[in-house]
Amino acid sequence: MRVRKAVIPAAGLGTRMLPITKSMPKEMLPIVDRPVIHYVVEEAIRAGIDDILIITGKGKRAIEDYFDRSFELEYYLREKGKVDELKQIEEIGEMVDIYYVRQKKPLGLGDAILHAEKHVNGEPFAVLLGDDIIISQNPAIGQLMEVAGRRDAAVIGVEEVPFELVGRYGIVDGEEVEDGLYRIRALVEKPSPEEAPSNIAIIGRYVLTPDVFDALKETSPGKGGEIQLTDALGALLKGREMFAKRITGKRYDVGSKAGFIRANIEISLTREDLREEVARYLTKQR
Ligand code: UTP
Repeated sequence: MRVRKAVIPAAGLGTRMLPITKSMPKEMLPIVDRPVIHYVVEEAIRAGIDDILIITGKGKRAIEDYFDRSFELEYYLREKGKVDELKQIEEIGEMVDIYYVRQKKPLGLGDAILHAEKHVNGEPFAVLLGDDIIISQNPAIGQLMEVAGRRDAAVIGVEEVPFELVGRYGIVDGEEVEDGLYRIRALVEKPSPEEAPSNIAIIGRYVLTPDVFDALKETSPGKGGEIQLTDALGALLKGREMFAKRITGKRYDVGSKAGFIRANIEISLTREDLREEVARYLTKQR
């Protein structure tokens, strides 16, 4: 199986980040000097994806503007001789082919994915959640694409989490068939620690097959009145093999306040232009 297209759902309301998300999409919050979604798009490109569909919603125009060319700004920077800045801005406008579709009501991640059916057009596709950043030498979505190609099956990205946090995630019940690769037996959405079959949690990366669309159409709203992707994937398990792959890399849930702050500090420490100053500040006696 070869994956060429990616879908980035970015239509959620971001209630965990209120009040900033009242007027600003959480996918546009800055991690140092780039919006969150820039890192997500970059990961997809590094994995070889050349076609990206972003699911947007009300109040998300800033995302489209960010990836669009800005001729006025380019003209101004050229006039002022700001060559480095100009190069950066031009590169963002030319990153990859990006398409947009609007989810009119935030009815959940499953419903957002359903909006990709036409664009995906019967091909397997990658899904990268627009509020999860994963920093890794080997791009996280590429790690899943490698397994999907080899096993000819859908693959879900997972990470081990402390048992007291399983209630925040979809949890995998699976058999380990290779180091860090599980054949999935069942999926449970946000279980209590007592009912959780494991602490292997679904994080924001998937390689899916197009039969997921029919499964989603048959899925009734689950927890929180939203159409849950995990429920649809659970139903698909009856007819086909599916795998969960432990992703290597550092993940930041930037849709939460603590995750957002951690991402800014740690990613700034990886930047040559900032490392020294930020490290000095962090270690300073106060
Ligand atoms: P989250 O549950 O993290 O997003 O969904 P949310 O609903 O925006 O966040 P909170 O919990 O209210 O703070 C995971 C991903 O799915 C997208 C979100 O944009 C995010 O990337 N999503 C969620 C949609 O595209 N549509 C939806 O209806 C819900």
